[in-house]
Amino acid sequence: MDGPDHKLRQALAKRARAGSLRQLSASGAGIDFCSNDYLGLARSSHLRTLIDRIRAKHPRAPLGSTGSRLISGNSAAAEHLEARLAVYHRAEAGLLFGSGYAANSGLFACIAGPGDTLIMDELIHASSVDGARLSKARKLVFRHNDLDDLAARLDEASGATFIGVESLYSMGGDTAPLPEMAALAVEYGAGLVVDEAHSNGITGPGGAGSVVENGLEDCVFARVHTFGKGLGLHGAVVLGSKTLRDYLVNFCRPFVYSTAPPRDSLDKIEAAYELLPELDAEREQLFSLVRHTRSAIRESSFQWVESNTWVQSVIIPGNDQVLATAGHLGELGFDVKAIRAPSVPAGSERIRICLHAFNTVDEIDGLMAALENLQCVDMSLRA
Ligand SMILES: Cc1ncc(COP(=O)(O)O)c(C=O)c1O
Repeated sequence: MDGPDHKLRQALAKRARAGSLRQLSASGAGIDFCSNDYLGLARSSHLRTLIDRIRAKHPRAPLGSTGSRLISGNSAAAEHLEARLAVYHRAEAGLLFGSGYAANSGLFACIAGPGDTLIMDELIHASSVDGARLSKARKLVFRHNDLDDLAARLDEASGATFIGVESLYSMGGDTAPLPEMAALAVEYGAGLVVDEAHSNGITGPGGAGSVVENGLEDCVFARVHTFGKGLGLHGAVVLGSKTLRDYLVNFCRPFVYSTAPPRDSLDKIEAAYELLPELDAEREQLFSLVRHTRSAIRESSFQWVESNTWVQSVIIPGNDQVLATAGHLGELGFDVKAIRAPSVPAGSERIRICLHAFNTVDEIDGLMAALENLQCVDMSLRA
């Protein structure tokens, strides 16, 4: 008789046949063109010093938070940090989460219920999709960044209605037309939820984000800012009204039923927000590398996703082909990762190239030249 593993082995074998089997590999070899550490803060000695200074003020702080926020895990430090984040991002209130995944999935699962409607961009992150799946609301999807299609879905919606978008899409690096979306949300009385995972720390004044950059603080219902990307750390905050915060404290299951982030995490986030206003040079360096990369892309024989941000993607259709390409680039010293179906739609498999303030023009030129010179890529794929 087949053991309980049989079904699992079958699913894994199916993935392997499709060239989409995911496997863990230790990262770190080669020039970093794949991490989300856009500003280099995960390796910043300045940030480390700030963290050490904050920690030194309370050497006997408990190692763990010891419980959920509603039981034993709350602290003045957590509430102080939330208030600070709200001010920094020009929101009324904030609530910390252990990760962006928990924040998005918990938020979308609880804000809408039976009779309500969630309208999501078709390319929204899995964490938001999973939240929508858990919600008992009606779910509608609109074509990526398509305002007409969004308006059509809003026409269909009933009950309390929420729209889920990202300020910067993780797989293509393209950005949402936030002012137009906010105007539609206001017109229809819907709540706009903006995931700022990939813009936090980078866009807007002091890296406060794209909602602030566009002056839309009063037109959005909620924002999710994560700390694992531009801030080089871990965790997330949901920003919105005091009412939203109170609601999440009561109804958001990943908040209610999970151990609170430890003091150690709070200190790191506190330190990163102390540093953020001082990072204009790093942000400018990143923008300058984006401009350089875009001009190199204009000479490229490959098809690239249209993006003016630190996430650039070259399309290499087919799981086997994109994997082989990433492998060859890795052998040449470039740490890049293949993004395969089903993470992206079949036919749009890609190598996602993440730029960082610490990358150099020479490194980018080297990567672009290596890509052009690869013999393994079918010439018919080239633009
Ligand atoms: C757009 C987006 N939102 C949310 C998340 C989840 O954030 P975290 O890594 O903090 O769980 C990610 C991470 O991959 C992301 O890319």
